[in-house]
Amino acid sequence: MAELAKRLENLGTEGAFEVLARAKALEAQGRRVVHFEIGEPDFDTPENIKKAAYEALEKGYTHYVPAAGIPEVKAAYADYVAKTRNAKVDPDQIVITVGAKPIIYYTMMALVDPGDEVIYPDPGYPIYESAARFAGATLKPIVLREENGFRLDVDELKRMVTPKTKVIVINSPHNPTGSALTKEELKEILALADGQKTFILMDELYHRIYYKGEMAPSMYEFEEARDKVILMEGFSKIYAMTGWRLGYGVLPPALVPWFSRLQTNIYSHAPAFIQVASMEAYRGPQDASKAMVDEFKRRRDYIVPRINSIKGIHCLEPDGAFYIWINIKDLKKPSKEVADYLLNEAGVALLAGNSFGESGEGYIRISYATSMENIQWGLDQMEKALARLV
Ligand SMILES: Cc1ncc(COP(=O)(O)O)c(C=O)c1O
Repeated sequence: MAELAKRLENLGTEGAFEVLARAKALEAQGRRVVHFEIGEPDFDTPENIKKAAYEALEKGYTHYVPAAGIPEVKAAYADYVAKTRNAKVDPDQIVITVGAKPIIYYTMMALVDPGDEVIYPDPGYPIYESAARFAGATLKPIVLREENGFRLDVDELKRMVTPKTKVIVINSPHNPTGSALTKEELKEILALADGQKTFILMDELYHRIYYKGEMAPSMYEFEEARDKVILMEGFSKIYAMTGWRLGYGVLPPALVPWFSRLQTNIYSHAPAFIQVASMEAYRGPQDASKAMVDEFKRRRDYIVPRINSIKGIHCLEPDGAFYIWINIKDLKKPSKEVADYLLNEAGVALLAGNSFGESGEGYIRISYATSMENIQWGLDQMEKALARLV
């Protein structure tokens, strides 16, 4: 047996990849499976962005570039964040990463010593907890309650903050619940950080996958965010670019050299031609993204009433992202058992709520980033299979 380092005991993972593998195995046996488990758009990357990548390769963007990113690309991102948040952003605040995900890891590695506290949403994207635990943090999950529309309770958060709180993680619109915080709530949360001892990691990956307007309220709309907030943005969701692996952080200036140094130690920089191509995403036409969000909304409007008509389960209407967080408490069975049952008996791959934290028990998550035809079939199967359970 290999003698592995003790620290690996603290490293978590994402449930979606494990369920995807099991779903694929069933498909290999000839079974039809609908994929409600994985959080990636079923649309293709817009053509103009692909073309920009071919051109960037031809222009010779195939060599090393600065660790934090190509200056012209950082300027394009700064411009985008400034425009979409009505904020002042300096290109030197930006570190470009391979997917947005490394920003979570860098935040914990750069700020958290063993024993420092990290507050994060429960349920929430599992990598927040995993990275905080890996850094040796004292974990302080804040429960998102159904009574509060799955938005965190700001007063409760205020009570949880102590002199040892180093990072508060906020995700809005939220995975897995689809809830979004209001501008007032974001302002109150921002006031809890001082940019010295306490920082906010603000994950805005679903900023434009929002159904109550063009964009969800952003913490970066407040000037004070500059020195207190690590803003996470990326291309995976809104431009259907999950496989390109591209994202970035807009950082308090004091953190920039350290995030760059962490990056230098791991993969040096995000691929040069992909960085160059991404400028086209922001500068080119936005029709494909708009059409995708319209289609997500159409699906959400179909799924929510259907879920609520199925005996034993119910859900709230999400404000954004492309997930439905379904309460299954009336089934009186563990979430994992229900998820396994639906995969094996109904051919519906989805995630047990507790893969997003302890308070996810009693819930399951479906991602509606799959075609309407698949959604209809999947919900029909779910309805029939659940009728046999209640
Ligand atoms: C809330 C949230 N943050 C971050 C990520 C990671 O995104 P990326 O593909 O940019 O690394 C995801 C992906 O599912 C997510 O749902």
